[in-house]
Amino acid sequence: ANGHKNTGRTRNFLEKMDETGKNCIVFYGSQTGTAEDYANRLAKEGHSRFGLDTMVADLEDYDFDNLDLVPEDKVVFYILATYGEGEPTDNAVDFYEFVTTEEPAFSEGQSPEEKPLAKLKFVAFGLGNNTYEHYNSMVRNVNTALEKCGATRIGEAGEGDDGAGTMEEDFLAWKEPMWASLAETMNLEEREAVYEPTFEITERSDLTIEDDTVYVGEPNKNHLEGKSQGPYNAANPYIAPIVESKELFHDPQRNCLHMEIDIGNTNLKYTTGDHIAVWPTNAGMEVDRFLKVLGLYEKRNNVITVKGTDPTARVPFPSPTTYDAIVRYHMEICAPVSRQFVSQIAPFAPTEEIKKSMTALGSDKDLFHKEVADWSLNIAQLLETQSKGTAWPAAPFSLFIEGLNKIQPRYYSISSSSHAQPTKVAITAVVESMHKPKAPHVLKGVTTNYLLALKQKQHGEANPDPHGLNYELNGPRNKYDGIHVPVHIRHSNFKLPSDPAKPIIMVGPGTGVAPFRAFVQERAALAREGQTVGKTILFFGCRKQSEDFLYADEWKQYAADLGDNFEMHTAFSRDGPKKVYVQHKITEQAKAINDLLLKRAYFYVCGDAANMARDVNTLLGKIISEQRGWPESKGEEEVKRMRASNQYQEDVWS
Ligand code: 2AM
Repeated sequence: ANGHKNTGRTRNFLEKMDETGKNCIVFYGSQTGTAEDYANRLAKEGHSRFGLDTMVADLEDYDFDNLDLVPEDKVVFYILATYGEGEPTDNAVDFYEFVTTEEPAFSEGQSPEEKPLAKLKFVAFGLGNNTYEHYNSMVRNVNTALEKCGATRIGEAGEGDDGAGTMEEDFLAWKEPMWASLAETMNLEEREAVYEPTFEITERSDLTIEDDTVYVGEPNKNHLEGKSQGPYNAANPYIAPIVESKELFHDPQRNCLHMEIDIGNTNLKYTTGDHIAVWPTNAGMEVDRFLKVLGLYEKRNNVITVKGTDPTARVPFPSPTTYDAIVRYHMEICAPVSRQFVSQIAPFAPTEEIKKSMTALGSDKDLFHKEVADWSLNIAQLLETQSKGTAWPAAPFSLFIEGLNKIQPRYYSISSSSHAQPTKVAITAVVESMHKPKAPHVLKGVTTNYLLALKQKQHGEANPDPHGLNYELNGPRNKYDGIHVPVHIRHSNFKLPSDPAKPIIMVGPGTGVAPFRAFVQERAALAREGQTVGKTILFFGCRKQSEDFLYADEWKQYAADLGDNFEMHTAFSRDGPKKVYVQHKITEQAKAINDLLLKRAYFYVCGDAANMARDVNTLLGKIISEQRGWPESKGEEEVKRMRASNQYQEDVWS
């Protein structure tokens, strides 16, 4: 929708490879950046270990009708994430449609003797989540399609599982045998890997942070020049005013935020059920820790230019900029560190002893889990622990740009109705904070704690991490009055029936209630306007009625608008001696639910994918079977049918 990024450049990847002297291209189909990150890592490793001349490429930037012309001395990698219900990621849609058509139109056409891709060698790895039904369908289908056209796969078609939380280990386990077969097929010799930085960092003594050409967090040039304009999207967020923020819990230990974000004065539009993307800023404490351990703290505000050492390398942020701005706004520094990155950084340890201990952590899966992964240590926490606070001045900054993900927006189900408030988007978010047993650090959600800091600032409340905010406060140029957050909208298929007279049943424990507050708000508004609104049933669950019952007072107002057509069933899991969950309440209403389904009620589930949503799916199948006197399998089939026809819709996260 936002056009191809490299307009004006060639869409012929073979031409590009020849021009830049490459024999290996690593394509990625990425939604949240993980596949892109893996692609970068493979390209890097292929070069340093096997001397391949690699480049990384976005599937969206090239055409594929010349896949049949890839010569035998070249290899093509596909690193493919599967998105949502088995769909390709946005940047992979065209590629996927092309290769999976019955007879893809390759440039030479079909020759009767030989399959069109008989010469093509490819490598494939998929990123998926086994809690979804179409697990890793992208890599599976692409693999089948390419093989059908005669292409030869090197190694296994790898499958990483985010659902089981083993993505990184799946990736590491897959790539070693793959490299071995690739080396054999292409006659490559493994060499002592020497680190070559992908990015060159130049100090700019001619510029200071005061200069208005220096990026201090602005995502692009228009923002830098103070004339940002739409369309606002993933490449160009809108710096939106937060017009209201408040605490929803009555619990001194936990926070849940309600925020209202103004998107008036923009071309941004949403419909009830959509998501809002929030671009976070790293917490000041973590930014400082990172800069200190790399020995960059003193020169954090020096101006630098970052350039690729290779023409195909993309710098993932604009420059000239500062170390501080890169780390604060563009690098995912708080993510759990990966085992491979630990190995890569080991050679740059400040002492031989630390180098040994880092090498051991990088090569021993169990040790790594015990000492790093189980505590979700981020990179700076690990380096600091290993060196007991001593800096790592030999570690090249380029390695961190290469090895850490670029910061990604986080998506929240919008909790307001676009009919009731078209220019104001509401967010409902629990602030994540967890202290794992014996862990040296409290694990804090980057974005929800950033939002909490914005709320505290708005209300003049004490803030334990005062500089963890964003550029309107940090930067030398104060461009924005008030409290702001960078956002864009992502459209979803999670939608109310177009006819409000249709009955709906909603299941949303915890913050899973967010889109249902929007649904109920919308139907209440329609009822007030005199429209006929059907039965509206909400199942909500939380720990205690007095602590985390979200929007407890609002529901009464909606009930007044909707009358008897609104029913709310609440499950308080920690108020009594026994856990009560939404599933119990659904079971109590089995007959009513079945009656409504027979009247073609829509059924919605939002919240935790792995446990709750799965359970509710199974439970509904059982209820349907019991109520209709069917065998159990027929109830399951019925739920599948409901899903396929959008009568059953999910908005879930893991
Ligand atoms: P618990 O934390 O007391 O176990 C919102 O998080 C509510 O969902 C809480 O009351 C929580 O209960 C409950 N919950 C936890 N696991 C669940 C599951 N598998 N199914 C339904 N509700 C669950």
